[in-house]
Amino acid sequence: MAKVIIEKVGKRFGTATTTPPALQDVDLTIEDGEFVTLVGASGCGKSTLLRILAGLEIHTSGRLTCGDQPIRGPGADRAMVFQHYSLYPWLTVMDNIKFSRGLKVNRENITSADVEAASGRADALLDLIGLSRVADAYPNQLSGGMQQRVAIARALMGRPAMLLMDEPFGALDAQTREVMHDLILHIHRVEKPTIVFVTHDVEEAIYLGQRVVLMQPRPGRIHSVYPVPLPAQRTQDMKHSAEFRALRHEILARIRESAGVNTDQDLLDRLNLVGTTH
Ligand SMILES: Nc1ncnc2c1ncn2[C@@H]1O[C@H](COP(=O)(O)OP(=O)(O)O)[C@@H](O)[C@H]1O
Ligand SMILES: [Mg+2]
Repeated sequence: MAKVIIEKVGKRFGTATTTPPALQDVDLTIEDGEFVTLVGASGCGKSTLLRILAGLEIHTSGRLTCGDQPIRGPGADRAMVFQHYSLYPWLTVMDNIKFSRGLKVNRENITSADVEAASGRADALLDLIGLSRVADAYPNQLSGGMQQRVAIARALMGRPAMLLMDEPFGALDAQTREVMHDLILHIHRVEKPTIVFVTHDVEEAIYLGQRVVLMQPRPGRIHSVYPVPLPAQRTQDMKHSAEFRALRHEILARIRESAGVNTDQDLLDRLNLVGTTH
């Protein structure tokens, strides 16, 4: 169960009251099994909100719960995937995937049945991410996209109810990203975790999300929440649909507003003005 309720959550770093809070009055309910994307200009608090959900930061006001339990720190019910592949270079793909599970069973007096169960799960995940062939390879033998697949499989190993992803495909090229998008949607259908996915790429946010949460900076807060008017089963050609393009246009316009620039024309006018004053 991973229904998440976020109520009036705020976060201040340090004690200075002159800088706006990183987050202010964030209210959001995320349904069990939902795929939500967070998008917005740099500095609007996307990573901070995700880290609070992961329990890596503690909010300074408001309350939040995951599956009826208050979030007070990290937990096995929530797994995080970062932009930079955090694999251990000295472990094979298979051992990387089993690693966190290994930590857990070591603590609880490992039995051979545990090892067997972990191996079965790791095999299934390797299959799910399409990397069974490279189980014995080392991370530096894999492409960036493949390494990030392994990082996702490792996060899924303990069957977390929630998968928290912070710009996980930000370092990949455009073609690899498209492949990863369809892979993460497939994983969502098969494993059914609740996913909160942070990105600054509006197209990625719409293609993946059932809802797109648009945030704005200074103070970091939610501007609007957009349900995505596309069928549950996404295909790349939907990116050309009128619904997709209209939502993309709307969100980009709101982001430009919050950055203080209304339209491209507005920006061009300003640049021209600067040009003529000299
Ligand atoms: N550890 C920190 N200490 C101080 N300020 C921070 C820290 N982390 C983030 N911030 C500030 O909080 C705000 C939101 O940052 P962040 O959540 O990283 O935004 P985003 O991920 O949307 O770019 C920014 O103003 C940032 O400078
Ligand atoms: Mg960030």
